[in-house]
Amino acid sequence: MKLNIALLAGDGIGPEISVQGRAALQAVAAKFGHEVTFREALVGAAAIDAVGNPFPEETYNICTESDAVLFSAVGDPRYDNDPTATVRPEQGLLAMRKRLGLFANIRPVQTFASLLHLSPLREPLVRDADFVCIRELTGGMYFGEKHEGAEVAWDTNKYTRAEVERILRVAYQYAQMRRKHLTVVDKANVLASSRLWRNVAQEMMGEYPDVQTDFMYVDNAAMRMIQEPRFFDVMVTENTFGDILTDEGSCISGSMGLLPSASTGTGTPVFEPIHGSWPQAKGKNIANPLAQILSVAMLFEHFGLVGEGSLIRQAVDASLDANVRTPEIQVAGGQHYGTREVGEWIVRWIEEH
Ligand code: IPM
Ligand code: MG
Repeated sequence: MKLNIALLAGDGIGPEISVQGRAALQAVAAKFGHEVTFREALVGAAAIDAVGNPFPEETYNICTESDAVLFSAVGDPRYDNDPTATVRPEQGLLAMRKRLGLFANIRPVQTFASLLHLSPLREPLVRDADFVCIRELTGGMYFGEKHEGAEVAWDTNKYTRAEVERILRVAYQYAQMRRKHLTVVDKANVLASSRLWRNVAQEMMGEYPDVQTDFMYVDNAAMRMIQEPRFFDVMVTENTFGDILTDEGSCISGSMGLLPSASTGTGTPVFEPIHGSWPQAKGKNIANPLAQILSVAMLFEHFGLVGEGSLIRQAVDASLDANVRTPEIQVAGGQHYGTREVGEWIVRWIEEH
């Protein structure tokens, strides 16, 4: 297969993990005889610095001309504490999602047998926890009408029936491929937008009789996720709730540096870690490249290249088992491995297997 990949490294630790994601992608492609080309493009603070726009037109064009985008991270502390900044790195990510029509963000939450003890939750609770959060990505408060005044400000949590229906279809399809259990997470006891979600889901559930549908308020879901994470198989929720719940989900795995995601919809799909740009770690060679490398596995799997994805997952498991781990997940007294060393170890493992 021929794969044209747009590489959007972005800010902070983005460029370091991007290099490792690219190397893993290349190693797997070489092994399976795929032809890959890469085009790098600017996004986030890096793009603001270079051309004054966090998602430049040229980057948009490179994305639309590619088969997939391998994205790393955006965000820069220069903007975080400056409420007067009119342009922010995060807008680049949001513009990319919106303009590429990426309404479905697939965020698997899984555990790694060798890392169970790293979860702040007790081991018996998290063992074998394995669910997918399907986060709506181009609607809700992130994109609704806003007003930002000195005395009053608001964001509008708007959803249309069509937006809700298309994300629910994605979620039902995932549920059908998995354990056939869908939890629709909302706040229908308070929010009108949530009641639309619930109405649409109740109308659709009859079309998927093989899937058990249940409904849960988001506050309860946040509690249930840490009380009994194994309860969940597929959860579907709106943009803001999904943002919050997936950070919570990363605690189940033990580190934010482990979780990949896929953003799909009408345009070029994007594969990205769920973590941010961790500016404090920039250039220190300590960031975990696994979320980025596992995003590459999701990229292959998106194109039906299951063996390729599986080889990456095996390489990642092997690196964890061999204690080739970045500092935040390394065992006490274990050897120091940086972003680069972990990435290089994984590439070697792929080449040798
Ligand atoms: C995420 C991130 C982004 C979001 C930020 C960086 C805009 O937190 O992908 O979860 O809020 O969607
Ligand atoms: Mg987030």
